[in-house]
Amino acid sequence: MNYKLIAPSILAADFANLQRDIEMVNQSEADWFHIDIMDGVFVPNISFGMPVLQAISKHAKKTIDVHLMIVDPDRYIKTFAELGSNVLTVHYEACTHLHRTLQAIKTEGMKAGVALNPHTNISLLEDTINDIDLVCLMSVNPGFGGQSFIKNTYKKIKQLKELIVKKGASTLIEIDGGVTNKNAKQLVDSGADVLVAGSYVFKSDNQIGTIKSLKEIANS
Ligand code: DX5
Ligand code: ZN
Repeated sequence: MNYKLIAPSILAADFANLQRDIEMVNQSEADWFHIDIMDGVFVPNISFGMPVLQAISKHAKKTIDVHLMIVDPDRYIKTFAELGSNVLTVHYEACTHLHRTLQAIKTEGMKAGVALNPHTNISLLEDTINDIDLVCLMSVNPGFGGQSFIKNTYKKIKQLKELIVKKGASTLIEIDGGVTNKNAKQLVDSGADVLVAGSYVFKSDNQIGTIKSLKEIANS
């Protein structure tokens, strides 16, 4: 895919003004809403759950990309479909039967994503890559926004791209964590298709402008 996508992460939004921040994303050049669901077990943090996603869904006018940082995600696949998720990403490290989980996500009409922690090797996707619509490469350890980007991610993007090409898959590569205007270009040049950005967008004074400039850098 040539057209690069920007996905603001709602984790960094102002939850007391969530509708305002959702409308900002609606009006911006962002392509997706990235929604982080954390259970306090798979990651050492709890974000928000179903009622908040339901509220977001009511106002969001773009693709809803849900990143599940939870153990045993199979229990909730149907629920996330009903709540309006378009892409549902589970962690490789949280799935005992990944192939089955991917099929279940697709059966519910969603795109199936797999996220890899920074320590998880790309080669582990060798036998499932053709079943995966999106691989989310974690460029920080999951659980918190605002962390520094891990540089080893560039190498992993290239390895993943090679695997996708070798297998003739059409999987998108998403990068999640520490994305800014400083690394966006190198990320897309390495093979990234979707850039998630939380604090870089929401902590800026001109959020719409920040999204626009990320989009321009990613597509330059
Ligand atoms: C981290 C989350 C990310 C996070 C990114 O566990 O998966 O989506 O919101 O935040 P920034 O862009 O601030 O690193
Ligand atoms: Zn995320």
